[in-house]
Amino acid sequence: MLRKTAVIAFLTPLLLLGSVSGSLAIADEAAITKGKKVAFDRKKGNCLACHMIDDGTLPGNQGPPLVAMKARFPDKEVLKAQIYNPLEKNPNSIMPPFGLHNILSDGEIDAITEYLLTL
Ligand code: HEC
Repeated sequence: MLRKTAVIAFLTPLLLLGSVSGSLAIADEAAITKGKKVAFDRKKGNCLACHMIDDGTLPGNQGPPLVAMKARFPDKEVLKAQIYNPLEKNPNSIMPPFGLHNILSDGEIDAITEYLLTL
């Protein structure tokens, strides 16, 4: 009897933990899908105008190819800041300040960041 209770007491937190991480994975998946859509949309991010990205067609080359992002941007906030306001890093940047000028919402920039970190 005591053992059964102990097993349940041990397993319950593990099961709860499992369901929490499961729903987080689904949330990530949704953000990644949304991020790619917004980044590729010519009327939204239009990132392909200047960057080669993933399987995007007809990319421009004014900006660097967005590859190996996780290795090059270990800090997510740095990547997000680059999209929010590239002028902070390079005052002469031709990349539009997507957040600062309200071209994209914070949620859209978050989603693009999640997507880019899969590249
Ligand atoms: C008008 C051209 C243009 C557009 C549109 C543009 N970028 Fe850029 N981007 C650049 C340039 C040029 C750079 C190089 C750094 C600089 O000059 O600021 C850059 C740099 C970057 C970097 C840093 C890359 C690195 O290797 O250091 C990221 C990340 C990035 N852009 C993401 C995006 C995303 C995401 C979008 C779409 C929401 C976007 N860019 C749209 C021109 C553009």
